[in-house]
Amino acid sequence: FQPKLLAGRKVVLTAGPTFEAIDPVRGITNSSSGKMGYALARACARAGAEVVLVSGPVALPAPVGVRRVAVQSALEMRDAVFANLSGASIFIGVAAVADYRPLKAAEHKVKKSGDTMQLTLTLNPDILAEVAALPEPPFCVGFAAESRELDTYAQGKRVAKRLPLLVGNLVQDGLGGDDNEVVLYDENGRYPLGRSSKAELAKRIVDHLAALLNGGAQR
Ligand code: C5P
Repeated sequence: FQPKLLAGRKVVLTAGPTFEAIDPVRGITNSSSGKMGYALARACARAGAEVVLVSGPVALPAPVGVRRVAVQSALEMRDAVFANLSGASIFIGVAAVADYRPLKAAEHKVKKSGDTMQLTLTLNPDILAEVAALPEPPFCVGFAAESRELDTYAQGKRVAKRLPLLVGNLVQDGLGGDDNEVVLYDENGRYPLGRSSKAELAKRIVDHLAALLNGGAQR
């Protein structure tokens, strides 16, 4: 018997990378398979939630019972998130959003010329931080993939972005694969979930966030 921990709740998630166009055939992106975000979307749907998955370009089918909104760039991702946020009690930012985008995408294919070329980038919005800064924010969950000093960076990010819950992992542990090793950080401390499949980790993350939301015991 699986208790429907998120029955009656609407969850909006972001997943996958974003793709920031340089010209019609090129762009800047991040390495992200989307597997963790999709596993979480599936786990939220199984827990009884209405789920909207705002997804960058990935090679994964939409999970059953999940409404997927496909986007490319960070600006499109932000628009899709805010267009779907009404009534949401939970927002989970799993996407590997590009921090910067080309200041201006070229209308036509850029031709090769000279030994070097320069590309001017401009800062993208921080979607998660914007949602968490709303006057009445949904319960916000962030992800942090770090290559070192996970505890320091993860707790720092959680506090800076004003998130009740952040999921941290070392990039070398999880990228692209079906397994990961994550640590949950909330205001009470850290909870290492150990190494497991992304599907199993997603279930445990849902358990933890439901416990925090419902004001009950941890995990
Ligand atoms: O600061 P950093 O990019 O490491 O934070 C990661 C968290 O913030 C993830 O949850 C990610 O989805 C979210 N994020 C975002 N918009 C950005 C950058 C990160 O929503 N522009």
